[in-house]
Amino acid sequence: MTGGAGFIGSHLVERLVAGGASVTVLDDLKSGPPRNLAAVLDRVEVVRGDVTTTLVDPGFVAGFDVVFHLAANPYIPPSVDDPLFDFELNLGTTLRLLEALRAAPRGPRLVFTSSAAVYGNPRRLPIREDDPTVPISPYGVSKLAAERYVAVYADLYDLTCSSVRLFSVYGPRQRKQVVYDLLDRLHADPERLEVYGDGTQERDFVFVGDVADAMVAVADRAPGRGEAINVASGTSTSIAALVGELSGAMGVHPELVWSGSVRPGDAQNWSVDTAALNALPFAAAVPLADGLRATLAWYEADRREG
Ligand SMILES: NC(=O)c1ccc[n+]([C@@H]2O[C@H](COP(=O)([O-])OP(=O)(O)OC[C@H]3O[C@@H](n4cnc5c(N)ncnc54)[C@H](O)[C@@H]3O)[C@@H](O)[C@H]2O)c1
Repeated sequence: MTGGAGFIGSHLVERLVAGGASVTVLDDLKSGPPRNLAAVLDRVEVVRGDVTTTLVDPGFVAGFDVVFHLAANPYIPPSVDDPLFDFELNLGTTLRLLEALRAAPRGPRLVFTSSAAVYGNPRRLPIREDDPTVPISPYGVSKLAAERYVAVYADLYDLTCSSVRLFSVYGPRQRKQVVYDLLDRLHADPERLEVYGDGTQERDFVFVGDVADAMVAVADRAPGRGEAINVASGTSTSIAALVGELSGAMGVHPELVWSGSVRPGDAQNWSVDTAALNALPFAAAVPLADGLRATLAWYEADRREG
């Protein structure tokens, strides 16, 4: 697995190890701290290396049954600041991985981690996989192009590949994005909270444990013909409702100040059709309130441990 020390990757590693798999993690450990893998470190092999160079070697990938590819620039804002960095890491690396898989004698199955950002501002809701893909950020473009390469390689070279379009993942070990930002700011000032937008923006928040299970289900049961599958909870939540749930879990009552505007590259509303995922079969199981409680418990323990 590439990026296995990161937020999502470390949960996926735990799931795979619990299921009896033997797991190798390729990660430069720059944004994924080794402590993310503390619970399984004695049962996985960690190769500290850069995916932009290590994945070129077909010998490296040939020995695996499945390659989960998660290492990437995982966020929109760095791609807006530096599109070329995002292009090389997200698209160039995926293409090099596909070339290595093509050259490998018995190409392992690939699960590529794409994103809801491929849709841009959706034309209709809930978003289905065959809806138009019109990304509005360099990150969305690089993920979409990588997905298309994955599909073409499945078709032309008979590789077994799937892409997962992850929506708003949250949970323990995530140290960025909206849920973590809100937790951090509510912790710093429980009396007053400034939030992007006007509170009506909707997202499908999906718990990271569900995402890990979904990726295993895709590896086990998806056709592998280059298809892209939405991975989401199937339930949309407004940012105002999310703030309400989090404040309730923390037992705080902040005065809310909405900025009224959104960041460049951020879409307004996302609700998701998860029929393809459900048909595997797979369904997300963790309700938002439970997932937020688990995230809060991790956040508090993480702060205590420094
Ligand atoms: N977090 C989300 O909500 C979300 C949503 C949609 C898609 N995704 C995708 O899921 C994947 C994982 O995201 P995440 O949130 O866990 O991010 P993360 O930053 O926590 O994990 C990425 C991991 O990749 C590693 N990495 C980055 N560049 C590398 C390189 N050049 N060589 C080796 N390792 C490298 C990092 O050290 C880190 O451990 C990404 O592909 C991201 O685009 C995430």
